[in-house]
Amino acid sequence: MPSASGRQEDATKPLRKIVRAASARRHRRRQLRTIAANATLPGPPRVEPTWPLPRAPRGPGDADITRAFGKFPELHYAYKFEGGVSLTTRYRTDAVTHPDRPLQRFRHFMPWLLRETGGTLKGKRVLDIACNSGFWSIQCALLGAAEVVGFDARPELVEQANLVKSIVGLDNVRFQQMDFWEMSPSRLGGVFDVVLNLGILYHLPKPLEALELTKAMAMEHIVLDTVICAERGALIRVGWEEPEDIRAAVSPGIVMYPTRRAIDLMLKHLGVPKFQFVPLRTRDMPEVYIDGGRASWLISLR
Ligand SMILES: C[S@@+](CC[C@H](N)C(=O)[O-])C[C@H]1O[C@@H](n2cnc3c(N)ncnc32)[C@H](O)[C@@H]1O
Repeated sequence: MPSASGRQEDATKPLRKIVRAASARRHRRRQLRTIAANATLPGPPRVEPTWPLPRAPRGPGDADITRAFGKFPELHYAYKFEGGVSLTTRYRTDAVTHPDRPLQRFRHFMPWLLRETGGTLKGKRVLDIACNSGFWSIQCALLGAAEVVGFDARPELVEQANLVKSIVGLDNVRFQQMDFWEMSPSRLGGVFDVVLNLGILYHLPKPLEALELTKAMAMEHIVLDTVICAERGALIRVGWEEPEDIRAAVSPGIVMYPTRRAIDLMLKHLGVPKFQFVPLRTRDMPEVYIDGGRASWLISLR
């Protein structure tokens, strides 16, 4: 029946809301049972991130670090540096992220990569796509990578990443500003042993093409970590994203959230020889993973 505003009222809306909430609760209970079961299965040994980050002997002092980061209105990682300097995340929006979030994610998927590479990234050339302020690039360098290249579309994040690099004192890490769709072996000095595609797929409009481009950059392994649609079946949910803060897409537009099954099919379609869904083994993870709205894969190309 039309409302006073002339819009058609949907009498089933409250009911659908209850059904959705019940289904989300069932899904969560299933996820928790799966986590408990996964915890008993054999898996790679735990690996801890290097935290707090070490500091180069002649690097910037405490006050310089605080001042240098203070000039940025937004900061995505709550960096901690040796000697007790620690920073807090901040965004233009009222978003809040837990300071341990990147550490939890590291403990979740990095052990699966490191098991394949013999416990270290020694000698590896690593690409960190959409590197933000360089958390993952720096961790990879500290894991022994021979060379790390990180890029992000936002120039202020490349500036932050260079700041972190100067504090830690690494000369085998390079950051540059670039859009995802400009990525190519010729622009980045060749292909990479390991490619990190973390937290970027769901900010892009074309997931299959994005995975294809990622694959073209990699020789051995890709780590994929992304928001997914938590439904069952091979589906893609479509959304719209505004560049609200430094975590988001750089320009307004359509974004896609494939389900887990849809990502598996995309990897199959791309002829990936081996890929492994990274199982959740602990509840000490951001809620979005527990609720099935985010997941990770280790993709092996040989
Ligand atoms: C959610 S953050 C993820 C950061 C990091 N990779 C991680 O997983 O912790 C998304 C990042 O993607 C970057 N980004 C968004 N759209 C991009 C694009 N088209 N090309 C390159 N970077 C982009 C943002 O600036 C931001 O740093």
